[in-house]
Amino acid sequence: MATQSPARPVSLTGIKPTGDPHLGNLIGAIRPALQLADSYDAMYFIADYHALTVLRDPEQMRYYTRSVAATWIAAGLDTNRITMYRQSDVPETFELHWVLSCVSAKGLMNRAHAYKAARDKNAEAGKSDLDAGVNMGLYNYPVLMAADILLMDSDVVPVGKDQSQHVEYAADIAGTFNHLFGEDKLKVPRLVLPEDDAAKTLPGIDGRKMSKSYGNTIPLFAPENQLKKLVRRIATDSTPVEEPKDPDSSSAFQLYEQFASPEQLAETRKRLEAGGMGWGDLKNQLFEVINDQIGPLRARYEELMAPDSDLDALLDAGAERARARARVVVDRVREAVGIV
Ligand code: ADP
Ligand code: TRP
Repeated sequence: MATQSPARPVSLTGIKPTGDPHLGNLIGAIRPALQLADSYDAMYFIADYHALTVLRDPEQMRYYTRSVAATWIAAGLDTNRITMYRQSDVPETFELHWVLSCVSAKGLMNRAHAYKAARDKNAEAGKSDLDAGVNMGLYNYPVLMAADILLMDSDVVPVGKDQSQHVEYAADIAGTFNHLFGEDKLKVPRLVLPEDDAAKTLPGIDGRKMSKSYGNTIPLFAPENQLKKLVRRIATDSTPVEEPKDPDSSSAFQLYEQFASPEQLAETRKRLEAGGMGWGDLKNQLFEVINDQIGPLRARYEELMAPDSDLDALLDAGAERARARARVVVDRVREAVGIV
């Protein structure tokens, strides 16, 4: 038999299907994750059960789950190289979740950012019950995330800063499990933060960080006319056309930097600094470069979103591969705890 090349380290991340992916997600999450797949065995999944902590509309759950998967594939995720699956298609996750719950300190969950933020909000609103509106899903969220991560023997977990505490919890919980049931039963994962976070944080149309929670996003696959409208609405100052401008103070230019070629960028910077180019011109150029890049991807996205597309089969195939790997870890865990 030919010698097998050593297995590559596993990189795993989850994407919550709670809204239409936007340009910020593309630059800050999708592109870096696709690049990482050059050097890792990548497992990227749709965290639909995590979304259930907030999503209450089954139609939205179905739509966003497909939409997020279609977005990643349209953006270049090759399902032959990267395992993409729905969390809900891997029931081993929920078995491991229970086992991990039994070794996770409750106090650790009391200190989790999302839970603490919900309590702070209740305190600010003057409510006497600080747990008002908090469901057990929100409380257990970090344990379910630890299950996602540990189930695939993940080496690295690339996430945004807001998720770093959860990855640290997963490492902590793996450590506790190993301490109780034997070293190396669960692989202890490592957090990977984006290298250059600040440079890759895209502003939204109001100048704040582009985010679903601010309602200031430019959806990645907005139809062309909507894209144009949203780009036109990007906030700018009122410097007259003929006056010199500081490109770096402008959200439109920061967006332009992510999509234009180095030549286009240098040329536009020069014209803005010299005066004579208005923000309106910049926005027209911005629309063109985004649309040029996104247009072909939008076509693939729309094809995948059709009800009879091959999207579901691609996700089913991903789930099958993911489950085979999950089974190995769950068997190891069952044996370690004495459930046979
Ligand atoms: P949102 O803030 O719109 O809810 P998420 O929290 O779902 O976005 O973010 C998903 C991923 O996209 C994270 O990895 C996050 O770091 C990245 N991301 C979100 N918004 C931006 C942005 N404006 N610029 C760069 N990356 C972003
Ligand atoms: N909690 C993550 C978020 O809100 C999504 C997620 C679920 C995840 N499970 C994960 C990320 C496992 C990394 C690893 O964005």
